[in-house]
Amino acid sequence: MGKIVGAALASHHPGLMQCEEFRVLMGNGADSDLIPGYARLRDRIKAVNPDVVVIFDTHWFTTGYHLIDGGPHYEGSYISDEMPWYLHGVPYNYRGHPELALAIEAVARENGVRTRAICHPELGRHYASINLIKQLRLEDTPIVSISSCQNCEPKNFLESGEVIGEAIRRSNLNVLMLASGALSHKFNNIDWKPGNPRIFHESNVSRPENIESDKQAIEFFRQGRHDIILERWDSDYRQKPWEAFGAHYLQMIGAMGGRECQARGVPLSEYENARGTGNIHIWFDVNGQQA
Ligand SMILES: [Fe+2]
Repeated sequence: MGKIVGAALASHHPGLMQCEEFRVLMGNGADSDLIPGYARLRDRIKAVNPDVVVIFDTHWFTTGYHLIDGGPHYEGSYISDEMPWYLHGVPYNYRGHPELALAIEAVARENGVRTRAICHPELGRHYASINLIKQLRLEDTPIVSISSCQNCEPKNFLESGEVIGEAIRRSNLNVLMLASGALSHKFNNIDWKPGNPRIFHESNVSRPENIESDKQAIEFFRQGRHDIILERWDSDYRQKPWEAFGAHYLQMIGAMGGRECQARGVPLSEYENARGTGNIHIWFDVNGQQA
C-alpha cells in the first residue's frame, strides 16, 4: 500500500534564485533564512526517501480542470516571462511519473472530480516547480506537478487532494508532497520603499493584518489544527488571499484527510517577506499524526 511519507509548505519566491552576493546585499548583510531552510528541508526529504515528489504548483493556473503533469520526462532551459532579467537559462532535466498521474485521473473519474492527466512533453514549466526542483536538488526523483485550477471553491481543492491521497494509497509508492507557494500573497507596489533595510524582514510584508494572520496560521500548523484553518478559511485566509487562493495548501491537506488531518508543522525557516508576500518553509510530521 502506498503512502504519504512527508509533506511541506515551501517558498519558491524568485528572489531566492538571485546570486548569493545580491541576496546578502538585499538582506542588509545576511542571506535569506529560506536558503539554509532549503538545506533543512533537503535533510527531511532525504530521511523519508520518497519514490515520487508531488508539487502543488501555484503558478500553473488552469481553468475547468485540475491538471496533472503526466509526461515521462522533462528537459530544457527555463526562462520566466515574469522576471526574465534574472530568472533565465535555468536548466532542468527530470523524470515524471505517468503511472501516478494516470492513477489520480482514474480515481477522479470514479469520484466525479474534474481532474485530468496531461502527458504532452512540451507542456510549459513554471518556476513554482522549477525553483523547488533546483533548490531541493530533486532531479533524481520523479516529479508530478499539480495545477491550481482557478475556477474552484475551496471544497473543490480539498476534493482534488482527496483523490490524490486515494490514488497514492492504492499505489505502491512512497510519496512526498510539496505545497509550493506563499501564505498571504499581496504584493507591495512597484514604487514601495522598504521600512526595514533587510528586505526579507517580516515587517516588510504588505500589511500588518496579513503578518498577524500568517503568524496565527503558522501557530495552528504547529499545533496540527488544520481543522481551525479550514473553519476560518472563508473569513480570513481566503480574503488575504494566500497564493493561488491557497490551492497548494488546500490540495495537500485534502490528500492528508482534510479536517481530520492533525499533522503538526515544524517551521524550517524564519517567516520572511518577498515583495509583500509572506513566506516560510514548514515540514509536516505525517508519521506523528494521530489517526
Ligand atoms: Fe509565487
